Amino acid sequence: MKIDIVSIFPDYLAPLELSLPGKAQAKGLLDIAVHDLRQWTHDRHHTTDDTPYGGGAGMVMKPEPWAQALDALTGDGSTIVFTTPSGAPFTQAMATELSGQDHLVFACGRYEGIDQRVIDHAASIGEVREISIGDYVLNGGEVAALAITEAVVRLLPGFMSNPESLTEESHEGGLLEYPVYTKPASWRGHDVPPVLLSGNHAAIAHWRHDQAVRRTAERRPDLAHPATLVDEGELRLVQPGDAGEIYTLQRACWLAELEANPGVEIPALKETLEDVRRWIAEDTVFVLRSGGRLVGAVRASLHGSSWHLGRLMVAPDLSGRGLGRMLLETIESAAPDEVGTYELFTGARSERNLKMYKKAGYRRGDGDAPPGAVHLSKRRR
Ligand code: ADE
Repeated sequence: MKIDIVSIFPDYLAPLELSLPGKAQAKGLLDIAVHDLRQWTHDRHHTTDDTPYGGGAGMVMKPEPWAQALDALTGDGSTIVFTTPSGAPFTQAMATELSGQDHLVFACGRYEGIDQRVIDHAASIGEVREISIGDYVLNGGEVAALAITEAVVRLLPGFMSNPESLTEESHEGGLLEYPVYTKPASWRGHDVPPVLLSGNHAAIAHWRHDQAVRRTAERRPDLAHPATLVDEGELRLVQPGDAGEIYTLQRACWLAELEANPGVEIPALKETLEDVRRWIAEDTVFVLRSGGRLVGAVRASLHGSSWHLGRLMVAPDLSGRGLGRMLLETIESAAPDEVGTYELFTGARSERNLKMYKKAGYRRGDGDAPPGAVHLSKRRR
């Protein structure tokens, strides 16, 4: 890959010679050149900016030097990246996409930005991307070009000596990374979570996935579960304080189940509040709140490569709005990577549930169901 970076402060980009991009250059995977925009100015003062048409504060970068720079540096198949706070947000997916290009030209703007006609002209000689690295304003696009370059270069084939680490890290699969620990096992009174010392790989994978989901739901609800916000409602991982409301809601929901399936033993109706506290601490559980009220929940736990779903409940007065389906999709999407099958039980006469599960792709499974219940399963796609 070839990267050209144009700036009025080329020294700003000196770190590119060090660290990761430096390593990629040494390996011959990358050729980076930094250019001073002022070499394409022709006046005594090497002017690159002027006052804005229409008035307003600040200065605008002049079109002539930029157009000459881009004409000199771009060729067939170049992607021209303008780093600007008004660009599209930079993401890991964008980094992956850019890492597949042969030639990137970064145009680092300063002041109030670059004359729009430069961007229009660039679109006629290459593919243009206007990219922001976050919702804040820097003094110029250089730091953004550095950040984008580093995120892109480490994805170049052959760059990473341990490419598996790429698939495990934050933002792959829409989840933040789980917390990590190294020796010693006990340090200043803080212990490494015992599961990590257990040698049980399935339990470790489950714990890590659960931590990643929790972190993401807490810190970045926008990332992992697009369904996090339902109208005015909120879908999130369970907290210990939800136990009482879950206990009450499941009684309400499974009483209706009992009416549809007379005589059937329903575990949800036998549980104590303590039982609920125990399983919400052990399983992956989502709750749905609306107007401060807990109106839905669902849980799942890992058994081998199977994700056992259960306790899918929606307040009876809110049924028929697709909330159950949404909870189902949420708990399915929270399954760890090793899951190949989703499984659940429902009442053999619970017509409404059977219809919803069928629509979601569940079929009669061959597992033993308790009396009055049916076993349903679905392969993960
Ligand atoms: N230039 C100034 N602020 C920026 C930002 N947030 N992203 C990209 N380029 C910028």
